[in-house]
Amino acid sequence: MAGKNYRIAALPGDGTGPEVIAQGIKVIEAAAKKFGFKIKFDSYDWGGTRYVNEGTIMPDDAVEILKKYNAVYLGAIGRPDVPPGILEKGILLKLRFDLDQYINLRPVKLFPGVECPLVGKTPEDIDYVVVRENSGDVYTGMGGVAMKDTPHEVATQVMVYTRAQVDRCLRFAFELARKRHTRKNPWRGLTPEDIAAGKTSQLTLCGKTNVLTYVFNLWERAFHEMAEQYPDVKINYCHVDAICMWMVKNPEWFDVIVTSNMFGDIITDLAAMTQGGMGIAAGGNINPEGLSMFEPIGGSAPKYTGKNVINPLAAVLSGAMMLDYLGEKKAAQAIEKSAAFVTSRKLKSLSAGKMGYSTEEVGDLVVKNL
Ligand code: IPM
Ligand code: MN
Repeated sequence: MAGKNYRIAALPGDGTGPEVIAQGIKVIEAAAKKFGFKIKFDSYDWGGTRYVNEGTIMPDDAVEILKKYNAVYLGAIGRPDVPPGILEKGILLKLRFDLDQYINLRPVKLFPGVECPLVGKTPEDIDYVVVRENSGDVYTGMGGVAMKDTPHEVATQVMVYTRAQVDRCLRFAFELARKRHTRKNPWRGLTPEDIAAGKTSQLTLCGKTNVLTYVFNLWERAFHEMAEQYPDVKINYCHVDAICMWMVKNPEWFDVIVTSNMFGDIITDLAAMTQGGMGIAAGGNINPEGLSMFEPIGGSAPKYTGKNVINPLAAVLSGAMMLDYLGEKKAAQAIEKSAAFVTSRKLKSLSAGKMGYSTEEVGDLVVKNL
């Protein structure tokens, strides 16, 4: 049977974005050859550099253009000479919203050979996924300011959630948790009693029911109602402040965590550090019924731009997530395995400039060991 044919819109973006996306594309193209499918990338110059040079971040019909593709592959957006908010709202958040990518999926996985800042923790201990709701919360942009520049200036930014938003996010998280029961270590977060009761995975809701009593009461009720349809999934709840402790002290407790947009933003930066830093933290903005966009969690790293020293593995692994989502599971797994070989046998560190290899060489190593 002839392999499939995919078209991807690449948005390398700013700073080190183009450098890491180039390595990601190189690895994906090698995987395509090996696993017998075709994949073609069209690159667009959208982002901060275009904004500085031409005054627009992306064209008006950007979303229409993207809809012709099977997925979007994004590097990084951000420039130190553009005030905060403009690029974020103008491209990253705009695409997430306009394409209704209501899930931000962020795997937290300690790769072999990677130095973990948590003493004594091994790859066995850190292997969970954060399902960050990606369409609501304070990100909706509701609120405003009055009496600006007076002592009485008032500003609000409202935490917004609809039941429908919460339900669709929880559905995704429960389904994901259910699928993860094939994992190598099925005991994560589960006691022998849980196992005896037929539980095969665990889903933790992270919220703040003790203070945000409207919004997280909605989440909590929806969570418990949906749990009845998933008797195989053990449910668990943590306040967001407490989960920051447990993610550091006992990451082995977690399997799948589902949370709101803002909390998910914060805890996944913490989580990324526990897996060795931004150099390896991959993510996907997912619309399960539509067009998804894959991007490393880290930013544009202006300090390292153009030096061929940034770690491309986060972009490479986001590329693997993209292939997985497209249905090329074997290729995705091969990339992940090769990346694990590279972290365990080759790299001295995951940090920019300290890897013992250049950005391009790390890409080559992943290709070579596919
Ligand atoms: C992220 C980033 C974005 C977010 C910013 C750049 C808008 O921090 O992807 O986590 O807050 O979602
Ligand atoms: Mn963030």
